[in-house]
Amino acid sequence: MDTDGMGDVDWNELQRNLEATIPVYDKINRFATFGQVDRWRRMVAERLPEDGEILEIGCGPGSFAEILVGRSLTCLDPIPAMLEAAEPRVNRKRMERGDENANFVGGTAEDMPFSDDSFDAACTLFSFRDWYDKKAGLTEALRVLKPGGKLVIVDPAKINSVHGFLGHGYMKYWVGSYARWICGVEDHPWKWLTKTYVHFGTTKDYVRMLEDVGFREVSAKVIFPGMATIWEGVAPSNPQ
Ligand SMILES: C[S@@+](CC[C@H](N)C(=O)[O-])C[C@H]1O[C@@H](n2cnc3c(N)ncnc32)[C@H](O)[C@@H]1O
Repeated sequence: MDTDGMGDVDWNELQRNLEATIPVYDKINRFATFGQVDRWRRMVAERLPEDGEILEIGCGPGSFAEILVGRSLTCLDPIPAMLEAAEPRVNRKRMERGDENANFVGGTAEDMPFSDDSFDAACTLFSFRDWYDKKAGLTEALRVLKPGGKLVIVDPAKINSVHGFLGHGYMKYWVGSYARWICGVEDHPWKWLTKTYVHFGTTKDYVRMLEDVGFREVSAKVIFPGMATIWEGVAPSNPQ
């Protein structure tokens, strides 16, 4: 595992651990982030266009998709159990609000089952750091976005090695202790989420990666209180 991705063995083990988070995912994230995770999700929603087709890559159990109001939405995830948890949860909420059902599709960021230029915007929250080939996933995101379409990413990147060291301590001891208590097992799945954090790069690494694959107007902002970064990029109007 490194800043660019991971091999098959790690990927399969990570998938198994991600699936195990489903019953306690929201509870642990809210506690671990002092409730800030909901604010970070709203920040992504505010950055997405009001109209057009939106794609969420790595929707998990639907924690973000559920709050995205009034948009036409497709959710992608490679884990069937995630899609099974997300679909009824999200579409029940959408029906109550009078929104059309969202589409739930199995697949990975690196090989998306969509035609070129399908979406007006794409987002990925707390998923990018788990991708097995981040450059391939971003290249695919660019392919499925329409020219001028926006990509928004949120994940806990490091500003530098000191910030990374503090973040590792926070993940291992604060999040890890709570996850161990809630899950009731020593070998809880948040250990793997800490592992992907340790190998995740800096905010600047992914600014460069977004630019390298062809995104324009790339920006990154570390979000208060420093536990997450939000990146944005725009698909060029005339792709090269
Ligand atoms: C931690 S959940 C995030 C859920 C949700 N986006 C949220 O706001 O909390 C991460 C999700 O990303 C998915 N994921 C991991 N690797 C992926 C990849 N290569 N392509 C697409 N999704 C991926 C996982 O299956 C998992 O459901």
